[in-house]
Amino acid sequence: MRSKTLFYLLLMIPVSISSVMLIHGCSPDKPEPVRISIIPDNEYDPSKWGEVYPLEYESWLKTRDPRPAGKSKYKKGWDNKTIYDKLSEYPYLAAIFNGFGFGIEYNEPRGHYYMMTDQVEVDKSRVKPGGACLTCKSPFISKLINDNGNALYSMQYADSVKLIPEKFRSLGASCIDCHSNKNMEIRTSRWTISEGLKTIGKEEISRQEARTVICAQCHVTYIIPRDDKMQPTGVIFPWKKGKWGDISIENIISQIKSSPSYVEWTQSVTGFKLGFIRHPEFEFFTRDSVHFKAGLSCADCHMPYIRTGVFKISDHNLMSPLKNDLKACANCHPQARDRLKEDVIAIQDRTASLLNRAGYAVSTATKLFEAANNLKGTADTELYKKAKDHYIEAFYRLIFIGAENSMGFHNPSEAGRILGDSIAFAYKSEALLRQAVTKAGMSLPPDIGLDLLKYLNNRGTKKLNFIPRQELPDPFGIQELLVPRSATGI
Ligand code: HEC
Ligand code: HEC
Ligand code: HEC
Ligand code: HEC
Repeated sequence: MRSKTLFYLLLMIPVSISSVMLIHGCSPDKPEPVRISIIPDNEYDPSKWGEVYPLEYESWLKTRDPRPAGKSKYKKGWDNKTIYDKLSEYPYLAAIFNGFGFGIEYNEPRGHYYMMTDQVEVDKSRVKPGGACLTCKSPFISKLINDNGNALYSMQYADSVKLIPEKFRSLGASCIDCHSNKNMEIRTSRWTISEGLKTIGKEEISRQEARTVICAQCHVTYIIPRDDKMQPTGVIFPWKKGKWGDISIENIISQIKSSPSYVEWTQSVTGFKLGFIRHPEFEFFTRDSVHFKAGLSCADCHMPYIRTGVFKISDHNLMSPLKNDLKACANCHPQARDRLKEDVIAIQDRTASLLNRAGYAVSTATKLFEAANNLKGTADTELYKKAKDHYIEAFYRLIFIGAENSMGFHNPSEAGRILGDSIAFAYKSEALLRQAVTKAGMSLPPDIGLDLLKYLNNRGTKKLNFIPRQELPDPFGIQELLVPRSATGI
C-alpha cells in the first residue's frame, strides 16, 4: 500500500509542474486536463462528463454549429446550414447507384452532433439493413449488442432506435466512445475495430497511433454480411489481406469478392450483384501517405491544440481544416496560410478531375451493359464475363475515392493511382463488351446517352431532385471533350 501511495505522489510531481508551466504560458506539448471530480462507469451523458471537463465539453458541443461558407471547395456539408447532395455534386453516381439507398439520398457529412439525427431523417432505403446501421452512430451500440445479441443487426431500424433510452436517441459520437472514464485515456469502444485490428495483426498501439485508431472506429469502410434471406448478420471491416499502414483497395476488393454473403445490393441498370465501399479515411490515409509516414495522426489535423483562456485543450469541434483556416498545419508549415490552402485545392482539383473521368467512364460502361443486356445471346460469353469483371474493378475503385472524404488530400498519389486504374478498367470493360456484342453479330451505339436526369429527379419519398448549382464539374474542363454535356441527359 505504502509504496503505491509513494508511486502516486511521484506521479503527481510532473503533473503539477506542468500545470504551473501552463499557467505561466510555457505550454508543454500535451494539454493537461483540468479534472474536478470522478466520472462513473457507463456514463453516456456528455453533459455529465462536461461537469468534470467543461472546456472539452463546450468544444464538443460546437460540432452542432453551422460551418462558414466559402472556405472549402469540395466539402461543403452544413456550410451556412445547407445540406449538400452528393448525387447533385457527382451526377454520374445516380445512374451507378440506382437500385440502392445511396442512389436515393446521399449527402455530404456534417458535424458529429448530427450523426443520429441524419440517420433517422435520411430516406428509409438507406437504413434498410436495420439495427446494424447503429454500429458507427450510437454510443449505445455495444450495450445493445450485449443485450440483444446478433438479432439486433437485422432488427427493423426504427425498432432498434427505440432500444436506446429516449433522452439519448439523437446522441452521436460522445465522450464514452473515445475516452476511458477512469483516466481519460483515449480508447476504442467497439468490437468492430478490435476485430479489424486483430485481422491486420496489430497488437501494440502507441499513443500517437491511438489518435488515429480512435477515428477508425467509424471512418473506415465496412461490410454488412447477409444470410441466404439477405438478412444482416454483423458488421465487419474487409481488411483480411491488409497490414498496419497497408490496407489497399486491392485487399478490400478481393475480400468483397470472396463470398456471396458480402453482396449488399443489385445495381438496377446492369442487374449486377455488388458489395459496397464507405468512407475509407483510415485505410486511405494510412496507406503510405506523406503525412502518415511523417508520423501524423488524424487528431493532429482535425483536433489541434487550441487555447481557451489560460488553458490549452484539444479542439473537439472536429471539422475540415480549411474551415478553421488551417490552424492545425501552421506548426509544421510556416508558409502563409493562403499559399497552403492553394496547395490543398491544387491537390483536390487534380483528384476531382480524375474522379470525374472515372465517374463518367464507369457510368458510360453501366449504360452500355444495360444496352447489351437487352440484346440476346451475349451475357454468357467469355468476353462478356471478362467485361463484367473489369467493370466491377473499375466500380469499386471509383466509389472508394468517391466515398473518401478528403478529395484526395489524405493521400494524393494513392488517389491518382486508384482513379487511374478505375479509368483503365472502365475503358477496357467497354472495349471487351463491344467485342462480345460484335462477335454475336450485333452492335452497340458508338455514343451512349446517360439519361442522368431520369435517375437524379424524383428520388425516394422526399422526391429529391438534381440541384444544378451543387454540381462539381471537372475543374479543368476536359470531361466535356470526352462525354459532351448533351450525352449526359442533364
Ligand atoms: C462513432 C463514430 C465516429 C467516430 C469515433 C469519429 N467520427 Fe467523424 N464522423 C462520423 C460521422 C457519422 C460523421 C458524419 C455525420 C453526419 O453527417 O451526420 C462524421 C463527420 C466527421 C467530420 C466532418 C465534420 C463537419 O463538420 O463536416 C470530420 C472532419 C470527422 N468526422 C473527423 C473525425 C476524426 C478526425 C475522428 C477521430 C478523432 C472522428 N471523426 C471520429 C462518425 C465518427
Ligand atoms: C495532414 C492533415 C490531415 C490528416 C492527418 C488527416 N486529415 Fe482529414 N482532412 C484534411 C484536409 C485538408 C481535408 C479536406 C478538407 C476540405 O476539403 O474542406 C480533410 C477532410 C476530412 C474529412 C471531411 C471533412 C468534411 O468537412 O467533410 C474527414 C471526415 C476527415 N478528413 C477525416 C480524417 C480521418 C479519419 C483521418 C485519419 C484517418 C484524417 N482525416 C487525417 C487534413 C487531414
Ligand atoms: C471522436 C473521439 C472523441 C470524442 C467523442 C471526445 N474526445 Fe476527448 N479527446 C479525443 C482525443 C483524440 C484527444 C487527445 C488525446 C491524446 O492525445 O492523448 C482527446 C483529449 C481529451 C482530453 C484531454 C485534454 C485535451 O484537451 O487534450 C479531455 C479532458 C477530453 N478529451 C474530454 C472529452 C469530453 C468531456 C468529451 C465529451 C464531451 C470528449 N472528450 C469527447 C477524442 C475524443
Ligand atoms: C506534424 C507536422 C505536420 C502537420 C501538422 C501538417 N503537415 Fe503537411 N507535411 C508535413 C511533412 C513532414 C510533409 C512532407 C514534406 C516533404 O517531404 O517535403 C508534409 C507535406 C505536405 C504537403 C505536400 C505533400 C503532399 O501531400 O502533396 C502539403 C500540401 C501539406 N503537407 C499540407 C498540409 C496541411 C493542409 C496541413 C493541415 C491540415 C498539414 N500539412 C499539416 C508535416 C506536417
